[in-house]
Amino acid sequence: MFEKVQQLQSEAAKAIKEAKNIEELEQLNTRFLGRKGAITEILRGLGSVSVEERPLLGQQANQLKTEISSMLDIKKEELKSTGTKASSLSSLDITVPGRKLATGGIHPLTRIRYELEEIFVSMGFTVEHGPEIETDYYNFEALNTPADHPARDEQDSFYITDKHLLRTQTSTVQIRVMETKQPPIRMIAPGRCYRRDAVDATHNYQFHQIEGLMVDKGITLGDLKGVLDSLVKAMFGEDCKTRFTPHFFPFTEPSAELHMSCLFCKGKGCRVCKNSGWIELGGCGMVDPEVFKHVGYDPEVYSGFAFGFGIERIAMLKYGIDDIRLFFDNDIRFLKQFSEGQPVKELKSEEMNKKMEDIEKKEETHIVDYDTFSKLDIRVGTVVSAEKVEKADKLLKLQIDIGEETPRQVVAGIALKYTPEEMVGKRMILLTNLEPRKIRGIESRGMILAATADNLPIALTTDEPVPSGSRVK
Ligand code: DAH
Repeated sequence: MFEKVQQLQSEAAKAIKEAKNIEELEQLNTRFLGRKGAITEILRGLGSVSVEERPLLGQQANQLKTEISSMLDIKKEELKSTGTKASSLSSLDITVPGRKLATGGIHPLTRIRYELEEIFVSMGFTVEHGPEIETDYYNFEALNTPADHPARDEQDSFYITDKHLLRTQTSTVQIRVMETKQPPIRMIAPGRCYRRDAVDATHNYQFHQIEGLMVDKGITLGDLKGVLDSLVKAMFGEDCKTRFTPHFFPFTEPSAELHMSCLFCKGKGCRVCKNSGWIELGGCGMVDPEVFKHVGYDPEVYSGFAFGFGIERIAMLKYGIDDIRLFFDNDIRFLKQFSEGQPVKELKSEEMNKKMEDIEKKEETHIVDYDTFSKLDIRVGTVVSAEKVEKADKLLKLQIDIGEETPRQVVAGIALKYTPEEMVGKRMILLTNLEPRKIRGIESRGMILAATADNLPIALTTDEPVPSGSRVK
């Protein structure tokens, strides 16, 4: 009888494995587990087995019953899933046209900005940025436009406080850059500006400008004309002519407006250029000595030029767009015309990236005095005691002597690398002037400086025989 059970086991396994469909499985179910099936037969025959053997045989037969039943279930699932696959395959229609993937595109203003950046970078300019929320000082005062200056009227803005506003012009970045760098300077600053203008086809409360500034010894109006003429030719074509007309800006002296010959009538006169043959592009001029005084440059030594153009205006001229609002409506039918088939990479060429890198490399390294640059208080501290933090396998709680009356308690994430015992006596480098905070409910006053290697923290220590509390500079 025991052999019979064994034999049944291999017979059933083989038959189930080879079953090709659900019907066959059902037949196997009846054959092995049915009322007249092989297992039932064994169980029924238990009476004729000796009393000693009976329990074991019964147990084995029942075990086999469960085993066969689960083999049947598994096979059934298997057959069902291949069945679905087969049926979905048979319904695949390879003649249905594919679905086109919608890809994003670059906004026309961004596209123009990239082009402008590329042109200026090729002339050795850097690309700078400044905040959109500005102080009155950077937006007006430092640009030689004191509070009572009438030029402020033209740039009515959105004020956040009495002294903070959304910038009305990118000229602010000139000041910010000159405050932090010494000449020679060659920079552009593209970015968003805001004015409380009534919205119409050529005005919006939000728009973009590109600012330019060049400062060095001996910069002249001729340099300004040369740079802007190259820009216009690169942007709109070699046959475009440029001219200056006199103008006024508080931060340039002399000031000018840059005009280019009308793209549409080639200077003959048409509706776009109001029959003048010229189109205005933006403002420019030689940096006013007053502006240099605000940033501490000596106007007797240095001179420079600046300019500011509207990016929307350039885009409108270049693409023949007649309403500025189209840039901000986000109508996909409008935007799509500028994006199809033009991946981002093509616009920002590798050449441009390389030039940027070269310029960055060439820039002088400035040595900055630590105290003026940073208020970080970093000190050497000696670990007095250390213990693990309960339920936190990465944390150690340390008491560190930094020359104060009592040691500082610091919680540090270094437990994966260091045991509490080996930390005691170590001299650590510690950032001390942090607000106290709680880590896992434990007060921590300061931070151990550490690096990471192979995902493990390496605490910075010193071998220098300096007393605890020594300031690290
Ligand atoms: N910031 C001026 C404006 O928004 C444009 C401008 C004019 C910028 C002359 C300049 C400049 O840098 O030199 O109207």
